[in-house]
Amino acid sequence: MIVLVGYATIEGQTRKIAEAVASTIEAAGHRALLFDITSGGEYALGHPEAAILCAPVHAARYPAAFAAFVRQEASWLNSIPSAFVSISMLIRSEFEEEQEEATHFPDTLLQESGWKPGIIHHAAGALRYTEYDFFKRWIIRRMAEHENAPTDVSRDHEFTDWKALSAFVTQFLASAKG
Ligand SMILES: Cc1cc2nc3c(=O)[nH]c(=O)nc-3n(C[C@H](O)[C@H](O)[C@H](O)COP(=O)(O)O)c2cc1C
Repeated sequence: MIVLVGYATIEGQTRKIAEAVASTIEAAGHRALLFDITSGGEYALGHPEAAILCAPVHAARYPAAFAAFVRQEASWLNSIPSAFVSISMLIRSEFEEEQEEATHFPDTLLQESGWKPGIIHHAAGALRYTEYDFFKRWIIRRMAEHENAPTDVSRDHEFTDWKALSAFVTQFLASAKG
């Protein structure tokens, strides 16, 4: 099976996640087409038969280019097995209401585009303090304080559960072959 792994990233963590998704697909004996949605390139040439799209939440929404891609491709995505990986910080919150809130990040995008992914996987992202500019570091540090996330800005913090991600891909491949 040829699987499109489409992603959009702002700080790089979603690219890392998409690469891990692609590796799991290839390790299972399938082909992964890794595609940066914001590149404006062509992805359909590889004739994917299934798709996993990955996008991060920034200020409670997904990157505009990602939303545009999903709106444009919704009917094609609905015609093949597809899944969505939503990356956020809130999903790792120790507060149940906040985790619950994070599970609703995809709602608006899915409603307005009409895309109906078979599986939605929520993955925690990373705080890359060392790469933020002064203003962003200040905002994210305040957000982290509020959510009991690490506030040590002298280094980066990664929260992605790689095992859970790989288990999701395996589950998706099994259901897609179905
Ligand atoms: C400017 C900024 C805004 C963010 N806003 C949110 C948010 O509203 N909710 C949330 O759960 N996570 C938020 N995050 C956390 C990101 O989802 C997390 O850092 C993720 O790993 C970013 O993915 P990327 O590296 O692919 O861009 C924000 C991060 C940044 C840098």
